[in-house]
Amino acid sequence: MEEKCSYRTDDCINKVNIVEHEGTELKFDAFASYTNAWLEKVINHNNNPKTKYKKEQFSFVDCMCSSGLYYNKKTSKFVDGTVIRVMKIFIKLANKYPMYDFYLYFNDYDKQYYSCLQCLKRNLLKNKPINLSVEITMLDKNDFIYQLSINDLFKRRTNKSLVIYDPYDVDFDWNHLSKLLKFDSDFIFTHFLQNDFKRAVHTVKDKTKIAKYEQSYQMGFDELSEKFDKFIGELNERENAIYRSELLRDLFTELIHKYSNKKYSCYCPVFNSKAPVYDIVCLSNSSVALGVLKNAMYKLYKNKKADKVKKSKPEQLTLFVDEKTDVGIRNANVSEFEFHYNKVEILKKFKSIFKGKTVTKVEMEKILNEDPYLPSTGIFKDIIMPNWPYETPSQTGGFYKFKEDD
Ligand SMILES: C[S@@+](CC[C@H](N)C(=O)[O-])C[C@H]1O[C@@H](n2cnc3c(N)ncnc32)[C@H](O)[C@@H]1O
Repeated sequence: MEEKCSYRTDDCINKVNIVEHEGTELKFDAFASYTNAWLEKVINHNNNPKTKYKKEQFSFVDCMCSSGLYYNKKTSKFVDGTVIRVMKIFIKLANKYPMYDFYLYFNDYDKQYYSCLQCLKRNLLKNKPINLSVEITMLDKNDFIYQLSINDLFKRRTNKSLVIYDPYDVDFDWNHLSKLLKFDSDFIFTHFLQNDFKRAVHTVKDKTKIAKYEQSYQMGFDELSEKFDKFIGELNERENAIYRSELLRDLFTELIHKYSNKKYSCYCPVFNSKAPVYDIVCLSNSSVALGVLKNAMYKLYKNKKADKVKKSKPEQLTLFVDEKTDVGIRNANVSEFEFHYNKVEILKKFKSIFKGKTVTKVEMEKILNEDPYLPSTGIFKDIIMPNWPYETPSQTGGFYKFKEDD
């Protein structure tokens, strides 16, 4: 018998997952705004009027989705996790596009979370559009991947899918993941940059942890430690932490490409107040997917900054500016945070690429999407135009024309 409970009542507090870390809510925001933008892009991608309305499917998978509803003990409030947010996005778009089919797959091996997910389904999908199917499973992630691999939907050329793989820790078993990575899907991973591991690799003695790192990075722990220590004595502690993050990022990127044969990937770091905690990594055969992630993350941090400034007292307004001293200097006094999300840094990088150039819209989008850090054209109005005016395609007859000078 399925457990009957009341949705979003005090009874849920001890059943749902707890928001523990700074950055978790930002991750939900990031997954949701990425999914929304991704879905709009893939639906509108087919502009050929002859084939526009042929039956297509759009699907979303979260391999380990947790309880969907969360509780934040600090604020004593419920928080909507990815499941709830994505359900709402899919309901909206299934209603908007009744000619297409939409599928959601949510999995978590935890029995209580499974029961919470069933409760969400009962409550949020009472009047579900008929072109939306939602499947909830309680499987170990590797069995779940196997189930997906034999599901015909993911073999159809007409199915566009987005898969999220979001473990608590560094936990990548490539024997199983390689099956998933062969799908013609777009992928989002979270890749943790564990502090204990990054800063004090020699103190990691827990055999299960060591085995997980070895499996995840496909490298013996001794070799990994040796690589970590390469610059000991040459770099200070902070520089070493950055070098080690880069090393882990390179190893992870190499593996996702090796097992997927996909062309493009990029990462966007998520920070607590001191350092990057994890990266959100996007993998796709289209560079457009990368642009979607970089834009979504840029917008989230911009809004977070605006929020922070609004809430802080006047004397605290320098809070955000000071973050470079906390986060770690990447190069030439630029913090990792600024490197990815700061307007001035984005503009500098943009100028270094486009100074004196004349490019079409398509060329411009390609360069921006493929750049590992720059958000794509979505930031034009916000950053480029007000600070470095250019001639627009309507003025030049189809080209963006950028100045020679700063
Ligand atoms: C970081 S949470 C996922 C959060 C979720 N993606 C979201 O955005 O709301 C990780 C989840 O993985 C689940 N999990 C851990 N090991 C698993 C396994 N072997 N198989 C399936 N789920 C697992 C945990 O129960 C936990 O809910």
